[in-house]
Amino acid sequence: MHGTATARAGANIALVKYWGKRDPVLNLPATGSLSMTLDGLGTTTTVSFDDALARDEVVLEGQRATGAFRERVSRFLDFVRQEAGISAHARISTRNSVPTAAGLASSASGFAALALAATRAAGLDADLGRLARLARRGSGSAPRSLLGGFVELPAGIEDDGTDCVPVELAPPDAWDVALVVALAAIGPKEVGSTEGMERTRQTSPFYPVWLARAPSDLRDAREAVADRDLERLGRVAEASCFAMHGAMLGCAPPLLYWTGATVEAVRRVRTLRHDGVPGFVTIDAGPHVKVLCAASVAATFARELARVPGIESVLVERPGPGAEIVE
Ligand code: PMV
Repeated sequence: MHGTATARAGANIALVKYWGKRDPVLNLPATGSLSMTLDGLGTTTTVSFDDALARDEVVLEGQRATGAFRERVSRFLDFVRQEAGISAHARISTRNSVPTAAGLASSASGFAALALAATRAAGLDADLGRLARLARRGSGSAPRSLLGGFVELPAGIEDDGTDCVPVELAPPDAWDVALVVALAAIGPKEVGSTEGMERTRQTSPFYPVWLARAPSDLRDAREAVADRDLERLGRVAEASCFAMHGAMLGCAPPLLYWTGATVEAVRRVRTLRHDGVPGFVTIDAGPHVKVLCAASVAATFARELARVPGIESVLVERPGPGAEIVE
C-alpha cells in the first residue's frame, strides 16, 4: 500500500464558541458553534502510507516529532486505517503557516488537513460526513475548517454524531470582512481545551447558563451572517466569548486564559468603537485577541493593536477557503 496525498486547511476562529462536550469519546460538542475560516493561517499536511514502515513517522515543521504530538497523530491515523481496512503505517509531514508554539488554532486546521490527506492517501471516499467525523476525533473545532467562509457546526442530537456535520453559511468571497489577530506573548502554560471543558462542566456554576444561551446566540449569529449584519454578528460574538470566559472563571480552580495584554487589547478595541470604528473582539483558550471588522478598517485595528504593550505581532486575516487537496 503506497497511497500519498497532500491537503491544506485554513485555521478557523469561532464567533459563537464551542466549550463543552456531549460525548467525550466521540468528541461531540454540547452546543453548536459558528466560525470564520481564515485565508492565511493554516496547515499543509502530506500523508504517505508505506508497508515498509514499522511505525508512523511524524515530521512537524521539518523536525521529527516524538512524544504526545506523534502519539496524537498516530492515534488519529488508526481511525483512518480502521475505516480503510489497511494496516500500513505512514509518513506524515505537516507545516503550519504560523509557528505551532504561538498557540493559535493550529489543531483545527491540522486535523482538517490530516483527515483529508489521510483519507485520500488511504483510498477512502472522502465525503463531508466522513471527514467531519474523523476530523472531530482529532479536535472538536476541526470539522469547521473543512469548509470555507462562515461555517456552522450544529451540535446534533444523534448518539453517533451523524448530524454533527458542518454547513457553509456564506462562501469566503461573499462578505468583505476581516479578522485582525493580535498575538499576545504566551503567559504561563495553559490548561488544554479538553481538560478545561471538563473542568468547566464539572465545577463551574455558570456552565448550565452557558449551555442554555448557546442556541439563541447561534440563531442570532446565523441570521446576522445571512443579512451580512456585522454589528449584530459582532455583538453576539462578544457575548458568546465573554459568556464562555465567564463560565471558565467560575471553575474550581478558575481558568484564566488572559494576560494583561489581552485586557488592554480589548479596551483598545472598545475605545476605537466608541470613536466610530466598529470592531468586535473574540478570545479563545489563550491570550490572543481577534477583532471582527469590515475589511476597510482592518488596517486601523492592526496599527492600533500593534501599539498595545505585550502584543507581539498582528495579522490581518480574510475569510478563506475550506480544506482542499493540493498537488
Ligand atoms: O477544538 P478544540 O478542542 O481545540 O476546542 C476549541 C475551543 C475554542 O477554541 C475555545 C472555541 C471554539 O469553538 O473554537
